[in-house]
Amino acid sequence: MAEGARGAERILEGLNAPQAAAVTHETGPLLIIAGAGTGKTTVITRRIAYLIATRAARPSEILALTFTDKAAAEMEERVDTLVPYGYADVQIATFHAFGDRLIKENALELGLTPDFRVLTRAEQIIFLRDHLFEFPLKHYRPLGDPTRHLQAILGQFSRLKDEDVGPDEYLTLAEGLLARATDDEARLHAEQHLELARTYAQYQTLMARLGQIDFGDQIVEAPLPHPPAHPAALPGAVPVHPGGRVPGHELRAVRAGQAAGGPSS
Ligand SMILES: Nc1ncnc2c1ncn2[C@@H]1O[C@H](COP(=O)(O)OP(=O)(O)OP(=O)(O)O)[C@@H](O)[C@H]1O
Ligand SMILES: [Mg+2]
Repeated sequence: MAEGARGAERILEGLNAPQAAAVTHETGPLLIIAGAGTGKTTVITRRIAYLIATRAARPSEILALTFTDKAAAEMEERVDTLVPYGYADVQIATFHAFGDRLIKENALELGLTPDFRVLTRAEQIIFLRDHLFEFPLKHYRPLGDPTRHLQAILGQFSRLKDEDVGPDEYLTLAEGLLARATDDEARLHAEQHLELARTYAQYQTLMARLGQIDFGDQIVEAPLPHPPAHPAALPGAVPVHPGGRVPGHELRAVRAGQAAGGPSS
């Protein structure tokens, strides 16, 4: 016990007050917003060590997720130094690697064949191109250059998946935009979203039929509980997009507006 307390003190050494508060935070979720190089990885790795040293959690009860392989490797290395033994049970991975594992373990329940394949970005482009005329595209499949928007369309699907927005939700949001459109520009904008939403649904259907998923599905399909979106993580304004470009991040703002009791469809 005394040894555990001394260990815990050592873990807090050199931290500033907000960092120490984050490391020792007791129960419930904690959102930390901090810039580059401000000690985020330090806080997360020391928190892992602190939870173990104070016996607040077993290593096997700790899961740490990050975006890149590089960041996951760095976290693993630092936890390894802080917790010399027993760290092996702490799960440290990227969101996608962890999602991929959950999907593999639950493939049948998710309606996938156990031998499903994850397409690379290049394979996704080929897939979209091969099935181009099976998608309800108009604006984004110009007659003179039908493949012009493939990258942008996939980029939009990928953003939707990162935000955990499925085809049904996107369709509802697009219909809401159309219902609220009061001029031609807004109507066109909404119709472009509708076109993408229907294409997104068709894309998911075709992919599933062929036993394929993409990188983004590792997040969307993974059977994880969804934390509520924090308002601070959402942009406040809906950017206007120039005609012809696939509309981008406004979706989050649309959802935020609905969450805040704004008009919903
Ligand atoms: N309280 C502190 N006192 C002194 N040095 C600190 C403190 N907190 C962090 N550092 C140092 O600052 C550097 C950056 O820390 P760290 O890598 O944890 O930040 P980060 O926010 O994860 O950075 P990145 O944005 O690059 O991922 C490291 O060298 C770390 O040792
Ligand atoms: Mg870091």
